[in-house]
Amino acid sequence: MGHVWLIGMMGSGKTSVGRLLSERLELPLYDTDATVEANAGQTVGEIFSHLGEPRFRELESLAVRVIASQDDGIVSTGGGVVLDSSNVEAMRESGTIVLLDADVGTLTARVGTAAERPLIAKDPERYLRELASARGAVYEDAAHVVVDATGSIEDVAHRVEAACSVS
Ligand code: S3P
Repeated sequence: MGHVWLIGMMGSGKTSVGRLLSERLELPLYDTDATVEANAGQTVGEIFSHLGEPRFRELESLAVRVIASQDDGIVSTGGGVVLDSSNVEAMRESGTIVLLDADVGTLTARVGTAAERPLIAKDPERYLRELASARGAVYEDAAHVVVDATGSIEDVAHRVEAACSVS
């Protein structure tokens, strides 16, 4: 079956949906941000401010490679993982990439103050809108399937299961 890689914007529900799916399907849960944080011994926010975004992206690529080689599971990714095409290649080769697609209003409501998200913390709605418009095509190109990520986390998880036939 391979991994189910959840991609999408910050606030699209990758972490919550991933957690729910892994419980329901009794599959391992992986998380690129959590892997980066564990390896660096710092939070994502700290890595951005102490080491810079380029270093974060290197650590993120490393996390993708390590996770890709593990037993099949559900993977929650950081929203920018698709910016490096070699990440996308590694993800496509090791499973199915599912895009969680939601409008900016939904994303903004879900991220709240976004204090732990350095790219949008200053003005979540504005930066989510900018990133969504800059990245939209990259997400679409990377994804094997696109799932509507509005509504409850349970509903979104059901849609992912149906789209991947993983249940
Ligand atoms: C980022 C998304 C974040 C985190 C970092 C950068 C992005 O993950 O990796 O702040 O570039 O979209 P979430 O999508 O889990 O918030």
